[in-house]
Amino acid sequence: MDLFDVYPLYDITPVKGEGCHVFDENGKKYLDLYGGHAVISIGHSHPDYVKAVSEQVSTLGFYSNSIKNPLQQDLADKLEELSGVKDYSLFLCNSGAEANENALKVASFHTGKSRVIYFEKAFHGRTSGVVAVTDNEGIKAPFNQGHRVTRLPFDDTEALKSELKKNDVAAVIFEVIQGVGGLDEASSEFYKNAEELCHAHGSLLIADEVQAGYGRTGDFFAFQKHGIRPDIISMAKGMGNGFPIGGILIDHKIPAKHGMLGTTFGGNHLACAAGIAVLDVIKKEKLMENAAELSGYIQQKAKEIPQIKKIKGRGLMIGLEFDFEVAALRKDLLFNYQIFTGAASNKKLLRILPPLNIQKKHFDEFFEALKSALKKNDY
Ligand SMILES: Cc1ncc(COP(=O)(O)O)c(C=O)c1O
Repeated sequence: MDLFDVYPLYDITPVKGEGCHVFDENGKKYLDLYGGHAVISIGHSHPDYVKAVSEQVSTLGFYSNSIKNPLQQDLADKLEELSGVKDYSLFLCNSGAEANENALKVASFHTGKSRVIYFEKAFHGRTSGVVAVTDNEGIKAPFNQGHRVTRLPFDDTEALKSELKKNDVAAVIFEVIQGVGGLDEASSEFYKNAEELCHAHGSLLIADEVQAGYGRTGDFFAFQKHGIRPDIISMAKGMGNGFPIGGILIDHKIPAKHGMLGTTFGGNHLACAAGIAVLDVIKKEKLMENAAELSGYIQQKAKEIPQIKKIKGRGLMIGLEFDFEVAALRKDLLFNYQIFTGAASNKKLLRILPPLNIQKKHFDEFFEALKSALKKNDY
């Protein structure tokens, strides 16, 4: 049977991972500055994680949400402690799109409204409601076109105000730092205005932290730098270090009702074991501090390379913008220097999204490779 051919693939087959490296079937070692799209948070095959997941699967891997599962509460408590966000409840699901889909649903239930505001270059996932609030017409089927959504320019308070004034908006959904869109971040003033305007007009503010959350920026959540309190926070990628788990944090002011949300697989025993191990390792190994510290180092090294025109992002969510399209450079880094990097919808941007336990020496290796590639080739 063929695989449904939706992914353009690199001709590489990783079969093993360790820390911030992966190895192909011939034992060739690759430096992973992409983290499988910002998913690998604590490093490939971290021993604590392997132990926790292995022990859990050998005792009870799964039971449905019709029974008590104390691992969910354990995960919620550890998440509250490490993130520092208070007075939210946790709902667990399986992916980023599902997290955002549930966030929009909660907002619509709570406000009784249906219109959603999103921003230019936003990416919130590929399922029905969230693809409708993603700024990419090419991935929307006719089926996805029926939602009441409005796209606005990012960082434009006046545009937001004039739409919210209509009082028919359930939610404003935004990525604090846009991932796929190319690492743009609006001003603190804009985020604060968005929070105030949402409160004034009976709309909810949803922070999509699927990519930027879980310590990647050096803060647990990227919105924390801006001093705002979103009504709903969505999470996924780094949450399970590769095990599919997502979730939303819902402000206590929003009451739950039985049947309002639900999932078969969400919050299962194995997913919780993975999620708890991730939080324990982030805390024990001070990975948020590592992300913050290394960010400065990357920025300093990047400034030494004249072909880099702009450095975007924060922590270990960094974009290096060149004055040429980077597809050939990324291929060169991968096949000739064994380094994985990421792309963005801005074709001149090379994205760096490594495991959070990466070290300075790995960036030294990357910048040497980058300099060598840029010297040898005219991209
Ligand atoms: C900010 C953001 N939100 C949502 C998603 C969708 O997550 P998933 O692919 O797990 O559905 C992504 C995926 O790249 C993302 O970057």
